[in-house]
Amino acid sequence: MPKMPETIKSMENLLSMLDSLMREPAPFWNKFYGDRTKGVPFFADKPDENLVSFVEAGALQGGRMLELGCGPGRNAIYAALHGFDVKAVDLSEEAITWAKERAVEKNATVNFTLGSVFDLSPQSEYDLVYDAGCLHHLWPHRRIGYIEMIHHALKDGGYFGLTCFAPGFTEMGGAMEISDWDVYRDRSMHGGQAYSQEKLREIFGGYFELVEIRMMKECMENDPVFGVPFLWTSLWRKHSKG
Ligand SMILES: C[S@@+](CC[C@H](N)C(=O)[O-])C[C@H]1O[C@@H](n2cnc3c(N)ncnc32)[C@H](O)[C@@H]1O
Repeated sequence: MPKMPETIKSMENLLSMLDSLMREPAPFWNKFYGDRTKGVPFFADKPDENLVSFVEAGALQGGRMLELGCGPGRNAIYAALHGFDVKAVDLSEEAITWAKERAVEKNATVNFTLGSVFDLSPQSEYDLVYDAGCLHHLWPHRRIGYIEMIHHALKDGGYFGLTCFAPGFTEMGGAMEISDWDVYRDRSMHGGQAYSQEKLREIFGGYFELVEIRMMKECMENDPVFGVPFLWTSLWRKHSKG
């Protein structure tokens, strides 16, 4: 690979330099999805219980949806079968291949796209942006641009749905709350960064109005929906103009 220029002349140069301190995500996630039979809870082809409850309650009523870090596509496919026109993005080729296979099996039409969420620049196009477990794997220095991208992506009054690690459930498969600075001190996300409710309000509150935040409901293997007890689920709304 050609060596990157090492002079920091722009914010993008600075972000790339910080990226280079961390593990490259695509090889990790490709390996992670390489064995589909391992017992990872979210490998089950079931949508998030919170997404289903908002759709069933009529709070989310179709339209255009962008899913960020869609993995093998369980939420994107559910949404496509419930009235949404869905684009779903992930940087893992293994995940996108799997998601496409599932969509064919379920006769769902989803625009599954291989790529990084950092390279997206949609403008007021979406009624719903959804992130199930992607944000907590993103490096803090990329988060500002990520949130701004989501804000630009949404139409006025559009919704942003997020599930992410809540602190304090490491024994169940959750993650620790580590400070943004610790990520760089340790050069590691420690398997994912848990967010306190205060931190979520602090980072998203300037862009969105909070509709609901609660812990995800735990669901059993034979339930038709997915839920684990160590994640926050939250729904945010972009302020309408006027
Ligand atoms: C915990 S998994 C969740 C997958 C899926 N949302 C689900 O719940 O079934 C996190 C996903 O985020 C993806 N991801 C991480 N960083 C990304 C990036 N910069 N751009 C796109 N996808 C990313 C990973 O490849 C992985 O599929």
